[in-house]
Formats: sequence, C-alpha cells, structure tokens
Amino acid sequence: MIRVAAALVVLGSLAACSLTPDRQTPVRFVIGVSHANLTEPWRITMNSEIQDEAALFPGVRLVVADAADSAARQVSDVQRLLDSGIDLLIISPTDSRALTPAVARAHHRVPVILLDRAVEGYDYNLFLGPDNQRIGHLMGAYVAQALGPRGGTVIEVEGRSGSPPVVDRSQGFRESLANAPGVAIGGVVVADWLRDRAQDAMGQLFATHPRVDFVVAQNDAMALGAYRAAADRGLTGLRFVGVDGLPGPDGGIDLVARGVLDATFQCPTGGREAVDYALDILNREPGIPKKIFLRTRIITRPELLDGAALPAPRVVPASRRIVLGYAQTGRESQWREANTESIQAAARESGIDLLFRDADQKQENQIKALREFIARKVDVIALSPLVETGWDDVMAEAKAAGIPVIVSDRTARTRDDSLVTTILGGDFVEEGRRAARWLTDKAGEVKDFAVVELRGTEGSTPAIDRAAGFREVLAAHPGYRIIDSADGDFQKDQGKKVMAGFLRRWGTGIKAVFAHNDDMALGAVEAIQEAGLRPGIDVMVVSIDGVRAAFEAMIAGKLNCSVECSPLLGPQLMKAVKDYALGKELPVRIVTEEGVYPQETAQAALGGRKY
Ligand code: AHR
Repeated sequence: MIRVAAALVVLGSLAACSLTPDRQTPVRFVIGVSHANLTEPWRITMNSEIQDEAALFPGVRLVVADAADSAARQVSDVQRLLDSGIDLLIISPTDSRALTPAVARAHHRVPVILLDRAVEGYDYNLFLGPDNQRIGHLMGAYVAQALGPRGGTVIEVEGRSGSPPVVDRSQGFRESLANAPGVAIGGVVVADWLRDRAQDAMGQLFATHPRVDFVVAQNDAMALGAYRAAADRGLTGLRFVGVDGLPGPDGGIDLVARGVLDATFQCPTGGREAVDYALDILNREPGIPKKIFLRTRIITRPELLDGAALPAPRVVPASRRIVLGYAQTGRESQWREANTESIQAAARESGIDLLFRDADQKQENQIKALREFIARKVDVIALSPLVETGWDDVMAEAKAAGIPVIVSDRTARTRDDSLVTTILGGDFVEEGRRAARWLTDKAGEVKDFAVVELRGTEGSTPAIDRAAGFREVLAAHPGYRIIDSADGDFQKDQGKKVMAGFLRRWGTGIKAVFAHNDDMALGAVEAIQEAGLRPGIDVMVVSIDGVRAAFEAMIAGKLNCSVECSPLLGPQLMKAVKDYALGKELPVRIVTEEGVYPQETAQAALGGRKY
C-alpha cells in the first residue's frame, strides 16, 4: 500500500499533528510511539532521538502519543495507535504490570518494541533498555572509591517509589557498597525524578543532617536539586553524582563540566536503536534479539576535557574487509555444530574475513587461539568461553592491543568489566526456569517426585545458570526433589553413561530427568530404554536446545519437552562486529529469542526448524 509520507506527532490526541516538509516520499512504514510522559528531560531526549533517527529514513512516518504518566491513558493510546493503522509499535510503558495486557493485544496485531521498561512475560518482539542494576553498581563503586578507606555518609535520592529503575539502581548501589564497610547510607529521600522536589526534600534533610559527604541521586535533575539545597544552606565539601548524562543546559554533561556533579552515569534512552531495530524487524532481517541492554558510561570532568565522552569515529576503514577471529569451544553437540555453521555462513554473507579456531573442548586451546588473533592483529575477537573464569590475562592482552572481545553464547567473568565489549547469547537462567515450569505444570502438584539432572560442562555458564534457574522454580514446589546430579559434559555418550549410573542407583524411583542439553537427553533416552523402561512415559525427559534430533525423539514419544536455546547467533554477531567497525557503541548484553517446545507441538514445529 502506498501512503503519503509525513511524520505525524500526536501529543495528547490523535488530531493534534504536525507534518514533515517531505510530503512526496511514499510511506513504507508507519511506526507508532507511545511515551510514558514527555515532561521528564530524559524522555524528551528519547523522543528527539527517535525523531532524529526516523528522519534519516524518508519512507518512515512516526505517530507519537504522550500518556502524561497515566497507565489508563497509555492503554487507550495503544488502542488508538493500532486503530490508526501503524505497522509497528514502540512503547515505553508507564507501569509494567498495567500495560502488559495492552502490549500483548498490540503484539497480536503488529511487532512491538519495548523501550526502557519491560512488561510481564514475553509477548513482544524486542526489549531495549539500560541495565539499571549495573548503573547502581557503578555508582556504588565510584562513591566507595571516592570516599576511600575513611568512608563517609551518603544520602540516596530516589525516583518514583517502586518503579523498576528505582528498585534496580538501588539494589545495585547497595550490593556494591557491601564491600565498602566505611560507607553508610545515612538516609533515603524520594523525589519522584523531579529537581524541585529533590531541592525541597533535601533542604529539610540538611536542616537535621548537615554532615553528609555524598549525595547519590538516581537522576541528574534530582542531583541538581540536592546541590541547590546544599548551596542554599551554605554547606560545603559535599559531592554529588547523578544518572542520565544528557546534553544541553543543566543536563548531566553540563553539570559535570561546571563542577556541580562529580560524575554522571549515562543512561542511554535507546531512541535511535529502537528506530533502527524497528526497521530491521519491518524489513524482516534475520537474528533480531529478544532483549538488548544498553551500555552505561561514567562521565567525569577529566573525561570531558579529554573528549572521551564524544562518540568514537569509524574503527575499521571502509576501504578494507573486517577481520574477525572466532574461538569456538569444540564440537561437543549438535547445537555447537549449528552454531559454527551459523557463524561461518553469516561471516560469508556479511563480507567479513573469519579466522575460525575449534578448541576441542580445551580452554588452553581457546587461550592459544586468542593469542594468535592478537598476533595477527585481527579487528575483533569473538569467543564462546568454554568455562566462565580464567580469561583475565589473555583478555587484558587483547585490550592492550586495542582489540575488542565479544563474548558469544556463554559468559566470561573477568575482574575488569571493560575487558568484554559485549555479551551475546541466550538467557540460560530463564531456560532452566522454563524447563522446571514445564515439568511442574505437566506433572502437577505431586508428593515425592524424584528428578535427576545431567549437567553441562563443569564451570560453563549454561551449566551454572540452567541449574540455578531450574532450582529456583522447583523451590516453590516442595513435592519435587533433585535426588542426583552429575556432569555429562554436554555430550551424548557422557549423558548415556551418567544416566545409566543413575538408573543403577535409583532404579524406577526416578520420575524425570532434566538434561542441560538435548544431546545428553538423547543419550539418557538410550540408557532408559536399555534399562527396560520407556523414556517419555516411565521417566519424563526434559532438556534444552531444540535441535532437530530432539524434535524427532519427541515425535517418537521418547522426549517430553525441549526448551529452545538458539545457536543461530551468526547474524547478530556480525551485526555487532559491523557496528563496532563503524564506531558505534555496542550494548552491554544482547539476549536472543527462545521458545519452549513440548512433545505435542513437535510435529507441527519440525518443518520450521533451522537446526
Ligand atoms: O552454550 C550453549 C550450550 O553449549 C548448548 O546448550 C550445548 O548443547 C552446547 O554444547
């Protein structure tokens, strides 16, 4: 359908609109934008970023609604945007819970991108937002270091009570202060994100507590309010930090430059990224993630003077191909083979030169590969870490050589966060939870239900996280007990061997097996059959990955459920590599889309499976 191009801004009502000068370009896509409010400076910046980015694409038309902080109003905004014929909805919810049904309804009609705040469940295409807990952590670490061993008293100025960023920032802040016993939180002031409210509340607090060393405000506007309250009382020697790092007069960057704030922690709005991903979704690009957590940078005065807060220029010249070194774990599973194929195919399609090394399940081989990549001066290193720890030295060498390291699939825990440029992969904790939810829904509220667990490689992220997620859900179901658990190294033969041992020990007492991957589950299926029992009937089998062989086993009635963990990370990895080469800032974490496939759905789903 050809429509006439215009950027339509709806403030309050669909009738109030303004048109762009470009009326000639045919409209390809109409994007609806539903804001929680357009009064807070951060949200005004989010809106400008959306408008500026959309303006780069002449065939895109925006329809923008402002809910003025009313959940009820935002619910009706969503309906009116849908009725006006939008092709995609970008929404920043006022209230996650209240907006969940409206977002789900919208998602049944058009793709939905959640910006800044999530809703409950997974009824949307993509969530894009800051990592608020990390912002809190960074603030705590900064304050602890600034106060030093003598410590001091800190006042926390919070935004609207109960809102997700307040809860997460506060939790991260407190967690990081746990390592700084000298720093005491002397009080908490709630100022609803507003400068004047912070000024009034802090004025009252200073009347009784003049001896404060640091004010940690959850946004820059409140930090400024607190600063003014201190100035009104003639208090000196206090230090202030805030969050947001917006440009413009009295924005965080300006306040740091003027010495009002010690530091601000940039909270990206995600406005530009939301438009870019909206177009990727509308153009049916492959590999759209489920969640993207945007990066936070600390901005201090010396950094501003250095120009470090300015966006970086292009890193790899357009005149040559990007060289990517990839250190794979090995070939332990069908998942891994599909993962390798996805990476190799995506590199070919993206015109990226790939140096691929298979570490044969040995960390020392991966470290050797990384050193080879450094010596060969590749542009980017990607690593699927066999285990979480032991990467500090080699990653520090990569950093010293100016080569970013992207961690793909699994996580690496390093002492210095800056060693990892971004992390890309599934949510393994959630996969474990999903397996347990499926099991407890299927088996119901039982009395003494014995479960055995086949764990993935010891020390690897999927083994650690899937075990944690599974246990978290089972904890709410006292009738279920994990009676045995052992390492099957993600391999079919090992899975079979370990399961045979469980069967010898526990016999028919085992009611279900939870395998951290399909390959081990398929090995367990063989062991159960060899013990004269019926897998899928006498012993329930639930596993993770969603490989083709698991679907075939489900169709044959031998496996009950496979929770998806997508190995198709190639397109997302190449996008990250290309974005880096262009000088764009990469998110902290990119989480892939995953589903749950119970036996009953296997036949219908098999045709659409890509691995
Ligand atoms: O890291 C992902 C896991 O590694 C897969 O679930 C497993 O099959 C693989 O070996």
